[in-house]
Amino acid sequence: MNILESTVKVQHTSQSRLHQVDMNHIPFGKIFSDHMVVAHYRNGKWEQPEIVPYGPLALTPAVSSLNYGQSVFEGMKAFRSIDGEPLLFRPQENFRRINRSAARLCMPQIPEDLFMDSLRELIRLDEKWIPTKEQGSLYIRPLYFATDEFIGVKASESYVLTMFTCPVGPYYSEPVSLLASKEFIRAAIGGTGAAKAAGNYASAMLPDKLAKAKGYNNVLWLDAQHHHYVEECGTMNIFFVIDGVVITPSLTGTILQGITRNSALKVLRQSGYQVEERPISIYEVQAAYYDGRLQEAFGAGTAATISHIAKIGFAGEDMILPEVEDRKVGPWLGGKLERIKFGIDEDPYGWVVKA
Ligand SMILES: Cc1ncc(COP(=O)(O)O)c(C=O)c1O
Repeated sequence: MNILESTVKVQHTSQSRLHQVDMNHIPFGKIFSDHMVVAHYRNGKWEQPEIVPYGPLALTPAVSSLNYGQSVFEGMKAFRSIDGEPLLFRPQENFRRINRSAARLCMPQIPEDLFMDSLRELIRLDEKWIPTKEQGSLYIRPLYFATDEFIGVKASESYVLTMFTCPVGPYYSEPVSLLASKEFIRAAIGGTGAAKAAGNYASAMLPDKLAKAKGYNNVLWLDAQHHHYVEECGTMNIFFVIDGVVITPSLTGTILQGITRNSALKVLRQSGYQVEERPISIYEVQAAYYDGRLQEAFGAGTAATISHIAKIGFAGEDMILPEVEDRKVGPWLGGKLERIKFGIDEDPYGWVVKA
């Protein structure tokens, strides 16, 4: 605690906005809690992080992140245990990933204590913003971007790391439909697919909009070289269950290394499921579908934990997957991970930490 207090400077809001929020009806991604972290990297070093009231940052249009996209981010959540205790799920993994993303975008590494102390202090300060289990969770967005006021194309020399939070409702997602197409790609080998870089999401917006116009929820990305190996969805890694075997694409450098994906693999393996991490082509999925061997498909990500996939469109045809009630792996896994996150089930992995 002493370390926290001495390393993060806090400026409290004069008036909390918490009373304005109906925690039982939270609009997604639009309500932000009282405080945010701001840490500057300038003159070759990190300055003391500050927590200030949530609000605008002063930026000019010349800042390099706005012009050239030198910007990376993270997505994580704080949960309230059934005993009311604030919990975080594997925050160290988000810290490691933002630094891997930063390295790929030629940005300085963030010191671990700066990231973790700021995060903990922010959650401690806005603890009342964490909804109860029934109401949802508190989404946390660390965002790290270049701030040089310079329009030459080069890595910035100054940066801001900010963290802000946003209560979100429980994720009762309907099963989703995905469109696999050869028209667009998300990431190529040697590119930034494994980084959580802002630009990856910008380039996905047009394909996503076109998929939605055709009645699908999201794109199912195929690899850039052959256009047939399945990669991932918009904000989720993908899993298939074929003949009782759980298969997920291996990490080739083009896929985001999801923390939910990694957690799912551990829990499944430990529970005796046969799991394969390997390249899987959309034609293999299609063949399994037509042979009646494609039992399940689900996405894994922080937003929904596990999202069941109802339908996959490819080459003008739809693969319609079994009803969720008739599935075994996805529903079991989703429930198990949720119970670990909320501190209901025992956590033998040490993933859940007090906020
Ligand atoms: C492209 C992409 N893939 C996969 C994921 C799932 O990652 P995680 O489980 O760490 O949320 C995300 C979400 O962060 C994502 O944006």
